[in-house]
Amino acid sequence: MNDDKPLRVLMVCLGNICRSPTAHAVMQRRLEQAGLAGAIEVDSAGTGDYHIGKPPDVRAQQAASERGYDLSALRARQLVPEDFEQFDCLLAMDLSNLEHMIRMASGEQLSKIHLMLSPLGPDREVPDPYYGGEDGFGEVLDLVEEACDYWLEEFRRQLEQRH
Ligand code: 4NP
Repeated sequence: MNDDKPLRVLMVCLGNICRSPTAHAVMQRRLEQAGLAGAIEVDSAGTGDYHIGKPPDVRAQQAASERGYDLSALRARQLVPEDFEQFDCLLAMDLSNLEHMIRMASGEQLSKIHLMLSPLGPDREVPDPYYGGEDGFGEVLDLVEEACDYWLEEFRRQLEQRH
């Protein structure tokens, strides 16, 4: 592996307008706070094509802004097969996203795919907040913030193992 290349992480949900942009912004903030924003890059995508080009859901933006995260510049894009080559780690928000990703990937790419909440326990999912109430967006943030702390340490270990 080329030591100079950033570690690339992709957050994946269904629409790329609620959960994965939230995870994208939370991880980006963690990386900046840790001084790792140059060494680790984060992006997000959706398995579905419903919202391509759209900004995050206003409810996700509002909940995130209450914790100091700005999602406004993000735009939804759909997951593409090349993502499994381009990214080192792809984190699925729920089991449905995970199954979709496993169907798209092949060979060694499969080992790059994980559930976002796997550090919190087996088969833990970030619940889809799209059709629920405002509370769902706060819960997404709670879960994603907790998981990002674990993933940041995992990525730090991976970077150290390169040297
Ligand atoms: P997300 O939420 O996957 O967290 O972005 C959803 C957004 C849109 C839809 C479903 C979930 N939708 O059905 O349009």
